[in-house]
Amino acid sequence: MLRIAVLVSGGGTNLQAILDAIDSGTITNAEVVGVISNNPKAYALERAKKKGIEAAVVRPADFASRAEFEDAYLEKTQSYHPDLVVLAGCMVVIPKKMVEAFPNRMINIHPALIPAFCGTGYYGLHVHEKVLERGVRVTGATVHFVDAGTDTGPIILQKAVYVQNGDTPEILQRRVMEQAEWKIMPEAINLIANGRVSVRDGKVQIRDYTFGEI
Ligand code: GAR
Repeated sequence: MLRIAVLVSGGGTNLQAILDAIDSGTITNAEVVGVISNNPKAYALERAKKKGIEAAVVRPADFASRAEFEDAYLEKTQSYHPDLVVLAGCMVVIPKKMVEAFPNRMINIHPALIPAFCGTGYYGLHVHEKVLERGVRVTGATVHFVDAGTDTGPIILQKAVYVQNGDTPEILQRRVMEQAEWKIMPEAINLIANGRVSVRDGKVQIRDYTFGEI
């Protein structure tokens, strides 16, 4: 059984998609053992509690320095002894120490098709604002392993979503979640949980897999 710790900051719809996929059997051989939020008001915490999953808050304001917060954040994550750390709408810039503690064992969902619309400053709704500003016709989502850079790690899965006339950042965000994020995040976890994902020369290989079917 793959032990998963999920790091969240907000609504937690990606966390919900993971929990639902475990319940429905879309994800096998995996369990969520802990949810950690930097934001005490994150609705993701309620979603975890409703499922009887331990939910913890580690918030920067409770520490004298950023370094102390980062140590506590890592310590809390390690306390769950996770095989995989999942960043599901996590807005914390992941400390270097933490990236080093989970090499190719930490994944993130980004709401665009990396390498477009990613990197510093591209998070949450801002990503969709930039997509609309640029006027691209296709956007989407990416699940990738986390490395020392911002959105630079090996890509596991991507799914494209069309921009439509009249889209606002909020409407587009919802469509990207529904059509891409809530599908590829559970799919990536299931593939990892079943030992089908490896990283070679900075690229992901997925055994016996046909892309584009989800
Ligand atoms: C999601 O769209 C996720 O891709 C994005 O924040 C949203 C969180 O939603 N993450 C990032 O931008 C990370 N850089 P959720 O809390 O409902 O899952």
